[in-house]
Amino acid sequence: MQIVNTAQALSQALENQSAIAFVPTMGNLHAGHIQLVELAKSKNACVVVSIFVNPLQFGQNEDLSQYPRTLDDDLEKLRAAGADVVFTPSEQEIYPDFDVETNATHQNITINLPKLANELCGEVRPGHFSGVATVVLKLFNLVFFNGAKTKIAIFGKKDFQQLFIIQDMVKALNLPIEIIAGDTKRESDGLAMSSRNGYLTPAQRLEAPRLYRALGLLVDAIKQGRTDFSVLETQTTQFLTQLGWIVDYISIRSAASMQPAASSDRKLVVLGAARQGNTRLIDNIEFTLPA
Ligand code: PAF
Repeated sequence: MQIVNTAQALSQALENQSAIAFVPTMGNLHAGHIQLVELAKSKNACVVVSIFVNPLQFGQNEDLSQYPRTLDDDLEKLRAAGADVVFTPSEQEIYPDFDVETNATHQNITINLPKLANELCGEVRPGHFSGVATVVLKLFNLVFFNGAKTKIAIFGKKDFQQLFIIQDMVKALNLPIEIIAGDTKRESDGLAMSSRNGYLTPAQRLEAPRLYRALGLLVDAIKQGRTDFSVLETQTTQFLTQLGWIVDYISIRSAASMQPAASSDRKLVVLGAARQGNTRLIDNIEFTLPA
């Protein structure tokens, strides 16, 4: 496994590769990430993983400085999983005018996204998805620039809205990259694996799987024929709120368009974001109703 931290070294490492499967991450890798690396490996391509905590996608009062950085552990896991190249750039490598004192990226050119980027997670985290899309496009340029014929990038379904926005960007900007979605990996009690789970206190950790269970109940109700979606969203929000959660949103959407679901939609996704103390958890369930 080769570890590179500059664009130039990355370019050299990938010079002769005709097929690349790329997994972008922010590190603090768990079994969910490793599952994405395994998916990449199954594509018979050179597996490239990036580890970069992207300042541009964190808001002013978010957890950028606190975000867990566990590089040695991550590299060990990636070696065991069979990654070929790991790209661990500095902030300056990605943002040439980065200011270490203030964490300002001074990135004046960013990706302008449609309305969906200001909804759901984007409503609570203004600018987040533009920061994600901008860094993902930069990483795509760095990883795929050498002209590998097969260009695959893998994203987890846990961040469903992110995955949707990246797919939309790839289409809108004619990027010749195949986006593959990896399933959400869960703990045995159903909690979706996330680097942020490490922030939970033992009591919060016990309560945390309730978000997934509440989304599951919502799915059951819709499968049983309920179409009063906004009532269902409010009821689930109230249920979680009574149990001490601070709910950012519970939303029933068309999985194909990410628009609020209509009763005629068959492919649906229920999404939720809610906080236990300061820790914000997100989850979703995609499902299909009979035609
Ligand atoms: O999902 C993540 O870890 C990040 O948003 C990503 C895609 C690596 C961009 O920084």
